[in-house]
Amino acid sequence: MTSTNPPTDPPTDRSAAPITEHEPLLGRPGDVAQRDESMLARNLITGTAPLAQVGGVMLVVTVWGAVLSHSWMVFSLHPLLNSLGVFLSLQAILVLQPTHTADQKRRGTYVHAAFNGLAALSFFTALAIVIWHKQHSGIPHFESVHAYLGIVIYSLLFIQAFVGFTQYFVPRIYGGVDNARAIYKYHRVSGYIILFLYLVNITLASKLRYGEKFIHLKTWGVVVAGVLVVIGTYPRIKKQKIQIFG
Ligand code: HEM
Repeated sequence: MTSTNPPTDPPTDRSAAPITEHEPLLGRPGDVAQRDESMLARNLITGTAPLAQVGGVMLVVTVWGAVLSHSWMVFSLHPLLNSLGVFLSLQAILVLQPTHTADQKRRGTYVHAAFNGLAALSFFTALAIVIWHKQHSGIPHFESVHAYLGIVIYSLLFIQAFVGFTQYFVPRIYGGVDNARAIYKYHRVSGYIILFLYLVNITLASKLRYGEKFIHLKTWGVVVAGVLVVIGTYPRIKKQKIQIFG
């Protein structure tokens, strides 16, 4: 079946739906459901989101503070843009999590796509910078776990962005709206996995010679920021939106 309208998950009405429809992974049911009259932007700060926001800001301030307080080089753009990309991806997730009516989901998806478009621009420019830097300086590629995990992340991100865009805007390539909708949950689960991998990789970056000895990036600062992002974001996951088995 094909359709000209972008697919959305079946609409749910907060007042009429069974309580499990809005039950987050942790916390009280309804903590993160967007009220019909409330603005989309409020989703960025409802429920446990403020913890995630503090973590996101702390991550950017920790990385940018370390980089900018040492001598500038083109490579500096790699950590700056990667941490900015994580912050933008976080906003993309937080804005969409509490949506549940068809209209909220539609508007939320456009904002999600805009944040993720900017994040992808930051991430892939950061990748281009490190590759260029290594070629230019004659340094070998893939010298660390950070580098290997980084390539895994960028590959997953590429697939994630392609599937995310096409499942919504070009569902016919999956054989129609229903098939496209059936893969939303995989996109969600992989999104949460990729967010976690970003945090792991920035922590690994703080242990690289550049991170530890050159810019003095504090591992504890990155870890505390990452923990805040996790405890602010993951409890807002609605179980029924990510059920892959059964
Ligand atoms: C989610 C964020 C990040 C991702 C996905 C990522 C990804 C990558 C990748 C793929 C490489 C390997 C490039 C190559 O070998 O050609 C690399 C290298 C590097 N990155 Fe990152 N990076 C991230 C954040 C950071 C941050 C915040 C720093 C700053 C401390 C940093 C510092 C470095 C350094 C020094 C290298 C060269 C060392 C090596 O290749 O082993 N990265 N990164």
